[in-house]
Amino acid sequence: MFPLSRPRRLRQHPVLRDLVRETTLSAADFILPLFVRPGKGIKKEITSMPGNFQLSVDRLIDEVGAAMDLKVNAFIFFGIPSGKDAVGSSAWAEDGIVQQALRAVKAAHPGAYLITDECFCEYTDHGHCGILTEHQGRLDVDNDLTLPNLARQCVSHARAGADMVAPSGMMDGMVATIRHELDNAGFTRVPIMSYAAKYASGFYGPFRDAAESPPQFGDRNTYQMDPANSNEAMREVELDVKEGADVIMVKPALSYLDIIRRVKDRFQVPTAAYNVSGEFAMVKAAAAKGWIDEKRVALEILTSIKRAGADMILTYFALDAARWLK
Ligand code: PBG
Repeated sequence: MFPLSRPRRLRQHPVLRDLVRETTLSAADFILPLFVRPGKGIKKEITSMPGNFQLSVDRLIDEVGAAMDLKVNAFIFFGIPSGKDAVGSSAWAEDGIVQQALRAVKAAHPGAYLITDECFCEYTDHGHCGILTEHQGRLDVDNDLTLPNLARQCVSHARAGADMVAPSGMMDGMVATIRHELDNAGFTRVPIMSYAAKYASGFYGPFRDAAESPPQFGDRNTYQMDPANSNEAMREVELDVKEGADVIMVKPALSYLDIIRRVKDRFQVPTAAYNVSGEFAMVKAAAAKGWIDEKRVALEILTSIKRAGADMILTYFALDAARWLK
């Protein structure tokens, strides 16, 4: 008796395997995160994120050019400002570090698509994602006081040339406030990518070193989501879609593939996933020890994120992957 069906028949020839492949990756799927800092001629490697750097504006221009040669054309900028204060006012300064970067990179590479992360943890001296006020005897980020500043930061970035803004602070009502203020300022064409389902995750560790943004006390549990929750992510995404978000993000990616899939199935909106710093660092560290095959594992991870439903992936592997996929 022969088996009635033989799935292995479709796996016999590499050309056939290409023909039946359901998920494909290309450089056009990736958004490369870049860290910009004041100074000149600075390209300082981030120890826990090999191949990623803190860059001064002049070196940032070079890095964007090198990425575009590999057909990676989308970038998200994080700023490391020269000064921090309690409210993070350098985030909306006309000559702020991200504003300078936007103008310079736009001038040098008009074809680059520039997204800006919109948050305050890099700009406040306490490292929290907004203004702190006291609530029941402890300091907490004040949602409604933070919203106008967030909108100011976004408008300032749009004025400096941002193609898209990406609020990451998990404030309630942030998308509606930003949309309103962008429209008022004439930026009706600038889309919002909302970090809609952003979890309070241990996987952000290396990023906080890179962006010099760890909270100086406490944690982010009163604004970022509990990793145990999935229905709550649906409510977060639904609100952001209603408020006018153009792209929805799930973050981190790898431990949240189920969330990506649920969001995609339920809302059918453009969906981004953030393959975060800790996910990247784990692969790099194991590969450096010779315990895993880096290229194979990284491409498997990126494929799984796309297969789960992501239309685009923010990833520190963007340049490596673009090279491997060539
Ligand atoms: C907040 C922000 C964080 C990341 C992106 N935007 C850090 C945090 O919430 O503490 C993390 C990204 C990563 O780990 O790669 N501005």
